[in-house]
Amino acid sequence: MTTIRRKSQSQRSLLLVNIGQLLTLRFDSNKSGPRRASDLKELGIIRDGAVLCIGGKIVSVGTTKDALRDPWLKKHCKKVVEIDCAGKVVLPGFVDSHTHPVFVAPRLVDFEKRIEGASYDDIAKAGGGIRSSLEAVRKAPKSALSARVLAVLQDMAAHGTTTVEAKSGYGLTVESELKSLEAIREAASGWPGTVVATLLGAHAVPREFQGCSQKYVEIVCKEMIPQAARRKLAQFVDVFCDQGAFNPEETEQIFTAAEKHGLNVRAHMGQLSETLLWPFLRFHPASFDHMDHVNEDDIPQLAKRDTVATLVPGANYFLGLKEYPNARRLIDAGVPVALATDYNPGTSPTLSMPMAMSLACTHMKMAPAEAVAAATINGAWALRMAERKGSVEPGKDADLAVFAVSDYREIPYWFGANHCSMTVLNGVVGVRD
Ligand code: NIG
Ligand code: FE
Repeated sequence: MTTIRRKSQSQRSLLLVNIGQLLTLRFDSNKSGPRRASDLKELGIIRDGAVLCIGGKIVSVGTTKDALRDPWLKKHCKKVVEIDCAGKVVLPGFVDSHTHPVFVAPRLVDFEKRIEGASYDDIAKAGGGIRSSLEAVRKAPKSALSARVLAVLQDMAAHGTTTVEAKSGYGLTVESELKSLEAIREAASGWPGTVVATLLGAHAVPREFQGCSQKYVEIVCKEMIPQAARRKLAQFVDVFCDQGAFNPEETEQIFTAAEKHGLNVRAHMGQLSETLLWPFLRFHPASFDHMDHVNEDDIPQLAKRDTVATLVPGANYFLGLKEYPNARRLIDAGVPVALATDYNPGTSPTLSMPMAMSLACTHMKMAPAEAVAAATINGAWALRMAERKGSVEPGKDADLAVFAVSDYREIPYWFGANHCSMTVLNGVVGVRD
């Protein structure tokens, strides 16, 4: 496994120079909100660029020529570590805004069954799927879960990701969901990047509540959400709202409980079937994720809001689906779109944002420039962190990904290979082993 190695904790002042293409993603300051429609293609590219980072923040962005002439830099050059990017591409670190990293084992039997023709539904009915991951997570010590999550975060950083949303959702008891969130927190404390935790207690109705899902929803609302909020273990509450999971009424109950306890909401929507989305907009969801099935009436509503449609084509690829979310319809109508890996053992065992971008280009007809913006600034919007993440601008966190290519379009082009050579996470440099 490729991991990121922390070069030195103390490397806090950094100057990256000779950047072939610096993708700043900076944009018209009069326009606020996530990037939509044709704005999604605006990458703010600086050729022969330079970035100065001090104390984990970006302090200046421009050309190498200007940076080397800067009087402050000339005076303080001994204190600044200079990194020659030798013509490589630098962009904001990816913001992977949808992942499920707290599980114990891959689901290899389901993988084989699917190859033999079984559907997502067939597999769930035969005892596979989400429910088959529960026992191992319930039994696992927290330290084993956090060690797994940390290894995943390191591997993500090695692929250019610097901010990760991490969901619980494979325990589905109060104890094991809180343990999963604690494992996320523990792993995050050992990783220089940024982690946002989400409680996904409503991922599936566990077997012991089959036929009485309302009782389980009450546990989510009255125990999991209040405890996660009180202990500040999660920033978001997510619900898998779909056939075979939770229905719109249950989703509304869970959103209401989240709102009452001061947590923001997001939801898996439209993966297997269509759910009308506009009734949920009053909860100001940060994102609706998957969006394979979307009602036409929802599109103009979403185009007016900041709720991001997070598309996860890794799941369509891994499930062997012919259809992918209709990204073009959404983008052209002005709906803000993000891309994420949906890293999980059942439908999308990839942690590579470049792979998600490649699938978005080839199967959803997104332009490479749109894929970059969807994987960075709009991912940041999907986590309500755009004031800190997703673009290379003074004042933002020093999160950068360096790719050993000379044109940014090569990032989704060379699918299946990792060309990320260095990542800067909150000012800490990681290089690939
Ligand atoms: O995003 N749809 C629900 N959750 C995951 C699948 C989880 C699993 O199969 O373990 C998803 O695709
Ligand atoms: Fe998911």
